[in-house]
Amino acid sequence: MRKNIVAGNWKMHKTLTESQALTTEIRGVIRDEFRSNNAEIIICPTNLAIASISKLVEGSGIKVGAQNCHFETQGAFTGEVSATMLVAAGATHVIIGHSERRQYFNENNELLSKKKKASLAAGLTVLYCVGETLQERESDTHWGIIEAQITEGLAGLNSSDMERMIIAYEPVWAIGTGKTASADQAQEVHAFIRNLLDTRFGAAIAENVSILYGGSVKPDNAKELFAMKDIDGGLIGGASLKARDFFDIVQAFA
Ligand code: PGA
Repeated sequence: MRKNIVAGNWKMHKTLTESQALTTEIRGVIRDEFRSNNAEIIICPTNLAIASISKLVEGSGIKVGAQNCHFETQGAFTGEVSATMLVAAGATHVIIGHSERRQYFNENNELLSKKKKASLAAGLTVLYCVGETLQERESDTHWGIIEAQITEGLAGLNSSDMERMIIAYEPVWAIGTGKTASADQAQEVHAFIRNLLDTRFGAAIAENVSILYGGSVKPDNAKELFAMKDIDGGLIGGASLKARDFFDIVQAFA
């Protein structure tokens, strides 16, 4: 059975002290109010906060992820952080291929494939993001774009790698815009992605990989999205910065 997952992507928000305060708040509300729905909860703060937050969540079941990493383990790559270093700091997950990385840092499927391999080799679980721009959707080229993101982005991975792979479908036009894909629109793409995984890795893997939806998920639309057959949770940006909203999204599974 695949897992239900809610992951918070804090992006470039929160100082170390603010990150600690938000984590303490999230931890508190989960301790006091969480009704077990088997959802896995992941928070992805900035790299500066990973070590400290990993200690703060000990014993709570909350996992900590990074938002990016380099594909080498070490070396002369000024300003970069390796997957091995993230693991040493306490991270268990890493987001790879977020559309902001693709758009502002020119990361392409080939580079992302290397980052994924390095992350898996270091022992991380990868949250791999795919999704089309508004222009691609309007010109109906989004199916080909998503297919390339999946096939090129997962090139060279085997079935056992896929046990530590989570996919997030995040239409770029829905990120931070307040405009969500409808539950039907999202489900259609999730089913398409699962079908691609089936073709490439077989039915057992396709059934077991969690596919999250991301893009303006809020407490009031999470229930409808998470009720869809192929939507196994969410990657949450803006709403993950408020403990109450984030928690209400975690509770949105039926
Ligand atoms: P959003 O961001 O929830 O603020 O739209 C989602 C994301 O970028 O992962």
